[in-house]
Amino acid sequence: MEPTIFPTKSEIEQAAAIIRRGGLVAFPTETVYGLGANALDAEAVQRIYLAKRRPASSPLIVHVSSVAMAKKLVSDWPERAEKLASSFWPGPLTLILPKNTRIPMEVTAGLPSVGIRMPAHPVAMQLIEAAGVPIAAPSANLFTKVSPTEARHVREGLGEAVECILDAGPTEVGIESTVLSLLGSQGTILRPGMVTADEIEAVIGPLGAPEPEAAGSHASPGMHRKHYSPATKVLVTDALPSARVAYVWWRQPRESANSIRMPADPAQYARQLYAVLHRLDSESLDYIVVEPVPESEAWAGIRDRLKRASSESTR
Ligand code: TXA
Ligand code: MG
Repeated sequence: MEPTIFPTKSEIEQAAAIIRRGGLVAFPTETVYGLGANALDAEAVQRIYLAKRRPASSPLIVHVSSVAMAKKLVSDWPERAEKLASSFWPGPLTLILPKNTRIPMEVTAGLPSVGIRMPAHPVAMQLIEAAGVPIAAPSANLFTKVSPTEARHVREGLGEAVECILDAGPTEVGIESTVLSLLGSQGTILRPGMVTADEIEAVIGPLGAPEPEAAGSHASPGMHRKHYSPATKVLVTDALPSARVAYVWWRQPRESANSIRMPADPAQYARQLYAVLHRLDSESLDYIVVEPVPESEAWAGIRDRLKRASSESTR
C-alpha cells in the first residue's frame, strides 16, 4: 500500500475559505469523493448542479461535523435519529428528516425533508469544521456516471468545473452511504449501502419494506435507476458473450476472458468496485461482465449498484 498523503491543515483552511465564499470543493469522505458547497447558501448549491450537469430534481446530502450541527437543520430530531447517530455516526448512513427553513429549497430539490450525515473521514470533518457551515455534497461525478473513489476520478470527470480537489487517496468504503428515511412511522431504506438493514434494525427495530421503484420514475427523488454507470455496457451474468469483454469475478474465474479478480469479502469488494469500473471503462470494451454476487444482506448495497450500472433504462 502506498502511504496516504493527507492535505495539510493550511490546504484544508484554503478549501474552507472557498466554501465560505460560495465556491465548490471536491473532498474525500469514507464512501466516495463529494462535491461540496455551503449548504446554507442557495447560489453556491446551484453551482453543484451546474458542475455535475445534474437536474435540480435530485436532492443533495448535507454533511455535518457534529450531532448539534445536524439538529440545527431539522424541525424534528426523533429518538430514532439520536440512537442511529450515536451508533453509526460518523459513518456511511444518511438520515432523511424534516428540514427547517435554514436549509434552502435548492439543497432538497424542493422537498420538505433533508438528508444528513456525518462522514467518517478526518479531511471531511476538518473541512466542515474549518468552514463553520454544513456542506451539501453529492458524489463528485457527472450525473449518472460512476462515483469517484480517487481524486483522479474527480479530475477526469469534472475537470475545470471544480475549483479545488482535496486528495487523500482512495476511499475506504467505496460505495455511497445507506440512505434511510425516518419520515414514516417505520424507517425505510431508500438506497442500500454498507450499513445494512440488519444493523439498523438492531438499533431501532423493524424497518418498513423498501418502496418498489416504478419504471421511469423513482421512489426517492434522485434515485434514478440508471445511475452509477460506466459508458461501457455492464452485464451482470456468468454467461460470457462472444465479444471484447472483461470478466469481473470473485468466485469462478474464466480462462478465455480478461479476468479481474475481486475479493470475496463484501467490504473489500465494495472498496474496489468503482476503481475497477473506472479503469475498465477506458479500455474500449464491448462489455464489462460482472459475476453475480451473493444474495445476502451484506451484499445489498453492491447488488444495488451493479443493478443500476447494468440498467437499460434511459439516463
Ligand atoms: O456516500 C454518500 O452518500 C456520498 C458522499 C459524498 O457523502 N454522497 C452521495 O450523494 O452519494 P448523491 O447526491 O450522489 O446521492 C444522494 C442520494 C440521492 O440518491 C437522493 O435520492 C438521496 O440521497 N436523498 C437526499 N436527500 C433526500 C431527501 N430529502 N429525500 C429522499 N432522498 C434523498
Ligand atoms: Mg451520486
